[in-house]
Amino acid sequence: MYSEKVMEHFSNPRNVGEIVNPSGVGTVGNAKCGDIMRIYMDINETGIIQDVKFKTFGCGAAVATSSMATELVKGKNVQEALKITNKAVMDALDGLPAVKVHCSLLAEEAIHAALWDYATKNNIVIEGLEKPKSDISEGEEEEIY
Ligand code: FES
Repeated sequence: MYSEKVMEHFSNPRNVGEIVNPSGVGTVGNAKCGDIMRIYMDINETGIIQDVKFKTFGCGAAVATSSMATELVKGKNVQEALKITNKAVMDALDGLPAVKVHCSLLAEEAIHAALWDYATKNNIVIEGLEKPKSDISEGEEEEIY
């Protein structure tokens, strides 16, 4: 039911961890399943995402999509990262079962939340970026369990 790429990223996720003093961090959750994803970004002065890490407390598809999402945004500039949709993440993983499509949305939302945090901290506007709906502040995770 899962593609080989999904299984591979689930078994051997890339960029797991956290970044101390990140340029932006975004935490999002799915209230229905209770899964949480946090993405940290280190963005340089020219707007390039030079490092990215994630922590995901969630299902296998959420882990695999986080892993792939971090691979896709690494080295990109913020505008390019903004264009990485959940569909792009799924395509890069050779698809997800229909019941797991919502898991990939967390990856897209976490990227947006991290970019929003970066933009807010630096007082800049990233064209096309909207305030994330399900951003969760540090320490609020318990509330959605
Ligand atoms: Fe919740 Fe996959 S079941 S993110």
